Amino acid sequence: MKKNNFIVFIGFALLFGACKSNTNKGEKISTTDANGLLEKRFENLLDYQVDALSFPRSMSLNPEEIHKVPSKDWTSGFFPGNLWQIYALTGKKEFKNKAMEWTALMEDQQWNDKTHDMGFKIFCSFGEGLKYHENQYYKDVIVQSAKTLCTRYNSNVKLLRSWDFNADIWEFPVIIDNMMNLELLFEATKISGDSTFHKIAEQHAKTTLNNHFRPDNSTYHVVVYDTINGAVKQKVTHQGIHDESSWARGQGWAIYGFTIAYRYTKNKEFLDQAEATATYYMSHKNLPEDGIPYWDFDLPSGPDTPRDASAAALVSSGLFELYSYTKKQSYSTFATRVLNNLNSKNYLLEESINGPFILKHSTGNGPKNDEIDEPIVYADYYFLEALLRQKSSSKEK
Ligand code: GLY
Repeated sequence: MKKNNFIVFIGFALLFGACKSNTNKGEKISTTDANGLLEKRFENLLDYQVDALSFPRSMSLNPEEIHKVPSKDWTSGFFPGNLWQIYALTGKKEFKNKAMEWTALMEDQQWNDKTHDMGFKIFCSFGEGLKYHENQYYKDVIVQSAKTLCTRYNSNVKLLRSWDFNADIWEFPVIIDNMMNLELLFEATKISGDSTFHKIAEQHAKTTLNNHFRPDNSTYHVVVYDTINGAVKQKVTHQGIHDESSWARGQGWAIYGFTIAYRYTKNKEFLDQAEATATYYMSHKNLPEDGIPYWDFDLPSGPDTPRDASAAALVSSGLFELYSYTKKQSYSTFATRVLNNLNSKNYLLEESINGPFILKHSTGNGPKNDEIDEPIVYADYYFLEALLRQKSSSKEK
């Protein structure tokens, strides 16, 4: 997109937000300032030096310190993905060039069988890149990554194993986040013609549908299985406040993940689950006025309880896709309201902060007191994706 068109688009989006909603503090969003701020934040990502051991993951603000990780970290693929998406939003070639450099540094992960996070890593980098840079090398990496991920499938349990740690306590743990790795498998079948990947992904979604949800359609975080008979042994949490609580990002992974599963299978049960969890989330009595959740719905409400902008961005993006299948206006309206609130001075990182991030106020791991109320790379990824989806959704209308 040309720069002028981009400014008009962002300006329109912000103006809509300013008219439609106030922030949680009741302040009007300043469209002019927030507009310039977003573009300035983009420049921070471009200026960040390329280094295989320094993928930016998050940032503490007091004092300012960037948390850098190597490609094996589950979050590494998001930064290349952010650069690809800014290229899509702005049309500026320098973002594409940087995206290609960072994406190339991820290629070792196609062989990493110690993790289920293959989709986050490879699909958010190589998969995103393939949309704007058609080439066989990216396709080969995606297919090899799918093969590696499928080594974690257990046919007794009918699921892909999530974590290897805590193996003495959790025989076969599966987390709701794992739904996000299925897009890689579905796409690998489309690229290669090998239906194995699609079948494993669909089965993983079916087993998750059967076991991960509560009667109110909120999701557990971790379900632990018996590897011999496939029975459920435990339903617990790792990043929520307690086992029966609703960890906000987990609800987001469920809404988004089952929407993806529907995209590829057209299985109505997957769509129904995505809608049911979306309804639970959007109508929750403990969701703050601006639609940006506390990091767990069961935390006490109030100004001192940290939010999770990453959950908000992820849900906003997922709801734009859910709207495209259902045409239910409430999804599009909610997604737009949340996106506009994120795209304001309340959630955009200040110009004075020198780090390769866009949004503030995300929470990584509340119970471990880790990455509390910080800029986090995956919040930016889903925020940018939501901006792109909003753009194509408004073109269709
Ligand atoms: N997959 C880890 C997280 O959502 O924090």
